[in-house]
Amino acid sequence: MSLWQASGRNGGRDDHDADVTSALRGIAASKLYLLSPCPSICKLDRTISMVETMEEKPSKPSLRAKANKIRILRCKNLIAVIENPEDIRNIGAVVRNVNALGVEKAYIVTNKNIIPDDWEVMRNKANLIAYSASAIKWSFVKTFPDTEKCLDHLEKNGFTSIVTSPHVKGKNNIVLHEANYTKYKKLAVWFGNEKTGISALAIERSAACVSIPMVGIIESLNLGTSSGIVLYEITKQRRKFQERLAEKVAEKTKSNGSV
Ligand SMILES: C[S@@+](CC[C@H](N)C(=O)[O-])C[C@H]1O[C@@H](n2cnc3c(N)ncnc32)[C@H](O)[C@@H]1O
Repeated sequence: MSLWQASGRNGGRDDHDADVTSALRGIAASKLYLLSPCPSICKLDRTISMVETMEEKPSKPSLRAKANKIRILRCKNLIAVIENPEDIRNIGAVVRNVNALGVEKAYIVTNKNIIPDDWEVMRNKANLIAYSASAIKWSFVKTFPDTEKCLDHLEKNGFTSIVTSPHVKGKNNIVLHEANYTKYKKLAVWFGNEKTGISALAIERSAACVSIPMVGIIESLNLGTSSGIVLYEITKQRRKFQERLAEKVAEKTKSNGSV
């Protein structure tokens, strides 16, 4: 039985860990050997990461073709910034959300050696590949040593920053789904540290602080989760705006041509 048959799947790499794990648990007891689509044989009780390397990988040209096809859906001039993240798994989750939701770039502010500065090195790091479900290979990611340098870079390039927090912070507090995110031509959305949240400096130099309403006992959402929710709303609005703009331009070009 192949891995994909065992896991009940026949292609794609996303979100397969749970399926693969349970499939392996189901057949591991019999101590069978697994013959993967590539000509390797390994014992079933090896780790998932080893199994992952044995999966049938979609060929590079087909992934490249897909990347080219979806480029048009990406939200231009939208950057997600993670400020001083401590857990590499959260970086992976945010990069995955950035890629999946069509955010143009991810910036990471860190003075710890949690992630390499060089993207070529970053995209080949096994843990980042695993935690981002390979999104690291397909997303623009840049690091900054501190918040000030990142803000300076963004402002120099005409970006408006907004921060996110479960708490009321700064002068202009908005609820995620009540705001319009298309009024900023270039927008950077900041996510804070797992324990301390967003910094005072980032709040001070931002146009607004966005909250996802919290109605439970827990103080906040996890960094990866909150980035998914916030970026979903923002990309939804900005993509629609971008599409309408493209339609208008196409109409104008057509009518100019027909005169
Ligand atoms: C685990 S939270 C940090 C909690 C921290 N105690 C605080 O005071 O912000 C990590 C980050 O996730 C984002 N976040 C978590 N819950 C959020 C919410 N309800 N609304 C907006 N952002 C949220 C924020 O960017 C926050 O800095």
